[in-house]
Amino acid sequence: MENRSQWGTRAGFILAAAGSAVGLGNIWRFPATAFENGGGAFMVPYLIALLTAGIPILIMEFTMGHKYRGSSPLSFKRMNKNTEWIGWWGVLVAFVISTYYSVIIAWAISYSIFSFNLNWGSDPTAFLTGSYLQTAAPGEFGGFVPGVLIPLIIVWLVVLGILYRGVKKGIEIANKIFIPTLAVVFLIIVIRAITLPGAFEGLNTFFTPDFAALADPDVWVAAYGQIFFSMSIAFAIMITYASYLPRKSDITNNAFIVGFGNSSFELLCGIGVFSVLGFMAVGQGVGVNEVVEGGVGLAFMVFPSIINEFPALNELFGFLFFASLVLAGMSSLISIIETYVSGLSDKFKISRQKAVVFGGGFAALVSLIFATRGGLNFLDAADYFINQFGVAALGLVQVVAVAWFLRKLNDLKSHANEISDIKIGPWWNISLMFITPVVLGYNMFQLLRQNLLQQFETDTGNYANYPDTFILYGGWFVAGGALLVGIIMTLIKWKGSNKTDSKTENTEEAK
Ligand code: ALA
Repeated sequence: MENRSQWGTRAGFILAAAGSAVGLGNIWRFPATAFENGGGAFMVPYLIALLTAGIPILIMEFTMGHKYRGSSPLSFKRMNKNTEWIGWWGVLVAFVISTYYSVIIAWAISYSIFSFNLNWGSDPTAFLTGSYLQTAAPGEFGGFVPGVLIPLIIVWLVVLGILYRGVKKGIEIANKIFIPTLAVVFLIIVIRAITLPGAFEGLNTFFTPDFAALADPDVWVAAYGQIFFSMSIAFAIMITYASYLPRKSDITNNAFIVGFGNSSFELLCGIGVFSVLGFMAVGQGVGVNEVVEGGVGLAFMVFPSIINEFPALNELFGFLFFASLVLAGMSSLISIIETYVSGLSDKFKISRQKAVVFGGGFAALVSLIFATRGGLNFLDAADYFINQFGVAALGLVQVVAVAWFLRKLNDLKSHANEISDIKIGPWWNISLMFITPVVLGYNMFQLLRQNLLQQFETDTGNYANYPDTFILYGGWFVAGGALLVGIIMTLIKWKGSNKTDSKTENTEEAK
């Protein structure tokens, strides 16, 4: 009999899965992605992506974790021994993401503290790249930035401490505190945001649909990309979390709750962000289009400028915003790291504590690269490449392997339907066999074409116009390395008796 850790309650599992999904991707990525891809009209491909890829893959991953009761590599291996490498690839993608995701949380901790005195001054853009990150040229390390290093150490100590305590006593308790707190704090921010002068202009820009965008295939690709990262699917997380579900658990209903919960929060973020952008644009007498920025720019450049302009309680709202980034980020980071804690302890039959110390400790060391003066460039390149050639590529490979090569969809569907309140029908098979592979296949073809052309034709320019050698080792090696190390991990022999399907006697009710 195998003694696998278990969630204490159904609510504990749902909060942990939602905590994983709701993260930096919701707060800083969704609003800008939606805006750049048709504004209000983006909701159409977004909702279709949610229903044809997000929820179906989430159900698939929950079912795999629950049925095979293992980390991602072990679950894939138990499904078919030839697919273990897909499980490890996901774990390695998660490993890479954890090394820079932790650094963004470290910045957010610094900015929560800067909020008390609005330390970023009147030019937050210059402050971020100059005084705070002291950014060096692409490819240069240029020594540690203490303002990043110290909060980064704190992030790792807190997160690894939580993981060390285990699934029920660590991850579940942390999410039961983080997620309700985040919901309350974010609601306060959004209420303040929509009552600011100019909020209406911002919302108008956000929700005014540009239906022509629907004819652009890239808009659809952006919607699928957003759904993958935001729902934490296709990088080993949800398989791992579901492997801790008791035998008698609901799968489909839980997946709907987590999926719709995440998208509702994402929409709330869009509303909050565009309200404050409207406030800033009206204050400066410019169009909302001129103040929108994506990613790092939105959270750490545009937001501090907006907080400077707040009519009152600037310091408090600054703190609340960055603290909510920290909470959302931490609960996601925990789930990202748990993929390799679980993978290592399954494969090498070591305790969770050892896996946390070795796996987490190694990731913490690697993350130091991003705490150097060149960290911002390394982070930007790694993020782009691991998302496109890690998460999106893995999503495609995973779905094609399960649906077409192993033909496991009906098996998984019967398993989910046996124990779930909501029964899944043919839409699930159709989504995973046809819709998702076609959209992701097209996406991958376009991406490879664009990026390889850029690599070989000097006049087209690399991603973000970085130099060739930097893109080679800061981008391609990172994404390729995840696949390569994943394959190497597969070649290593399993310790102990993880080869057969385990029978867990524990039937603790968590329905
Ligand atoms: N799902 C997490 C996010 O949105 C990783 O940031």
